[in-house]
Amino acid sequence: MPMASDMRVTKHARKLTKSTILAALLVFGGAQTALPDDLTTAGNATGAATEMAAATTGGGMSRATVYAQAKALSAIGARLFLDPRLSGSGKLACSSCHDPAHAFAPANGLAVQMGGVNMHQPGVRAVPTLMYLQVVPQFSEHYFDNEDEADESVDNGPTGGLTWDGRADSKSDQARIPLLSNFEMANVSADAVADAAEKAGYIAELQQILAPAVLGTKTQKFDAVLKALEVYQQDPATFYPYSSKYDAYLAGKAVLTPQEQRGLTAFSDPDKGNCSSCHISDRANDGTPPQFTDFGLIAIGLPRNMAIPANKDPAYVDLGVCGPLRTDMKDHPDYCGLFKTPTLRNVATRKTFFHNGIFHTLRDAVAFYATRDSDPGRWYPHRADGTIAKFNDLPQRYWPNLNSDPPFDGRKPGDKPALTDAETDDIVAFLQTLTDGYRPAQ
Ligand code: HEC
Ligand code: HEC
Repeated sequence: MPMASDMRVTKHARKLTKSTILAALLVFGGAQTALPDDLTTAGNATGAATEMAAATTGGGMSRATVYAQAKALSAIGARLFLDPRLSGSGKLACSSCHDPAHAFAPANGLAVQMGGVNMHQPGVRAVPTLMYLQVVPQFSEHYFDNEDEADESVDNGPTGGLTWDGRADSKSDQARIPLLSNFEMANVSADAVADAAEKAGYIAELQQILAPAVLGTKTQKFDAVLKALEVYQQDPATFYPYSSKYDAYLAGKAVLTPQEQRGLTAFSDPDKGNCSSCHISDRANDGTPPQFTDFGLIAIGLPRNMAIPANKDPAYVDLGVCGPLRTDMKDHPDYCGLFKTPTLRNVATRKTFFHNGIFHTLRDAVAFYATRDSDPGRWYPHRADGTIAKFNDLPQRYWPNLNSDPPFDGRKPGDKPALTDAETDDIVAFLQTLTDGYRPAQ
């Protein structure tokens, strides 16, 4: 069937996969040499460096040189990530919001973080983790899942991209956003970032690593800063270590407690949580450990969070893919209310949950799934007339966009919840096995 195979080609070309990196390595390695045993842990950092090398030198470097360059760029990226001198206020680093000690999410429990030139500008969304972003596919309106070899023609709809609405496609694209956003790092321009980086000595170091390429213009300097940040964020040991208890369990090196095991069962059971239909918990066909997301953009109808200052204005509604932060899909009313399915790896270390930071405990986040429809009064405000303002952060004309898979499958108030309290506790216990840094008892 020519159509199906065309789809496969597009889909594979779109994905930021190991094969892209492999191809890049082969070009620069010069020959079809053996690849590192574990590309998931060695490949991606090299991929980005290789891309940079390709852009700057036209190729011809040995693989050892490419690796060395990637390592050096990554080390500078790590320092840039921690450096507040790169912000307009001089007070905000990437790490102020994405704290390395908290799985690259905030250390505090605020729904949104403060930024801007005077550090008085609140953000509008919760800060996501930066871990396990290495295989996020580029944004696409029609995503065909290559895991499902039997039926290539299933269109999973809008999927992928970085940020909660999928509007950025690479980590260097993405880094532009906070560096220039007036409520985040608030630099007046890309040139200002280049100047700040130069003043702090980074450009001279980057120039040395990237020679013979010349970082002559401010645009080239800014791009080199972005690239160093991107390469750093692809460091496997830091950003995708796969070192949780669940990973040890999958490798046969740990045993889940009875409660964790019950939680995994309820998490995967289509008649219970059905969580794994979106937050995938099985290894991919190629053996890649589970990412706990299918990267889908989905509307789940969260309550409006009045702790976000922007929400004091009733006219302001964050509609995710259709805007207002994202602008290229504003004529797609069918995308209003859609946000990206995040990984659940390290989710137990978070202090706020979902794109609007509405919940502050993992248990509430899970209980919302269990009882959104059977007990809406627990989650949504009551109007003066006693009725419940269900889906109060999504104008009614967009309600058809809401996901209707289990556990959101048409339960009514008073119906049996999708999960019992005990099953909710079990899932919370299971989610705690997804925290990296597990050390088995000796
Ligand atoms: C003021 C807090 C703040 C700072 C500082 C900040 N970020 Fe973020 N970051 C966020 C928020 C909020 C989001 C989600 C944005 C959205 O969905 O629109 C985000 C999203 C991201 C994402 C996408 C994650 C995903 O799941 O798709 C990446 C990558 C990222 N930031 C990297 C950086 C880098 C690199 C820096 C420094 C140059 C940085 N951030 C500085 C708050 C911050
Ligand atoms: C239909 C797809 C889908 C299903 C099924 C699903 N989720 Fe989600 N999950 C999402 C999306 C989309 C988000 C982000 C929504 C948002 O913020 O607007 C999310 C976010 C979360 C978060 C917040 C993570 C963070 O970083 O803030 C948790 C926790 C979570 N889901 C747990 C679960 C559990 C537990 C189940 C099963 C009971 C489940 N999910 C079922 C799609 C799904």
